[in-house]
Amino acid sequence: MFTLPELPYGYEALEPVIDAETMHLHHDKHHTGYVNSVNDALSGIGEFENMSIEDLMGNLDKVPENMRTKVRNNGGGHYNHSLFWNLMSPSKTTLSGTLLEAITSTFQSSGALQKQMNDAGVARFGSGWVWLCVRDGKLVVESTPNQDNPLMDGGKPIIGIDVWEHAYYLKYKNVRADYLVTWWEIINWDYAQELYSKST
Ligand SMILES: [Fe+2]
Repeated sequence: MFTLPELPYGYEALEPVIDAETMHLHHDKHHTGYVNSVNDALSGIGEFENMSIEDLMGNLDKVPENMRTKVRNNGGGHYNHSLFWNLMSPSKTTLSGTLLEAITSTFQSSGALQKQMNDAGVARFGSGWVWLCVRDGKLVVESTPNQDNPLMDGGKPIIGIDVWEHAYYLKYKNVRADYLVTWWEIINWDYAQELYSKST
């Protein structure tokens, strides 16, 4: 069954952009909760026991109907947060290579992409995520409610930003826009490039 991944850095490593208390609550409480709940929902359903979380996201229609919403919400929570930890880095990374080329040709510039994602994140009502993903061979910005993600309908995530209040409220209070603008200071472009290379 699924297990909680360790953070690839210390809890305080992303300060001052993300404070250590937020990281502790987010990783140790919220992510743990998603892992425990998806495991609980899938226990006893043999065919899913060895499925990767990515495959599970694309096969929710095969989950028995009485468990599907629980698996969608908590399996989504596990996949999304596992991705999110790796998409942040305490050391500065630089957008380059094929991802830089694709972003420049699609959005004109990295700054324009960031603005489009920040706007989509602010516009997401309630809890959810904002994504850069590959869909039908093209880079697109999307947002999803709750713990949904692009894998659930055939997209491939490249960048995902958590816009649930639990991701930013202790430091940024109700000002999601400030969190989003600041978040780009800790993006791990190397990991985004890795995801992009696998997606094409
Ligand atoms: Fe979260």
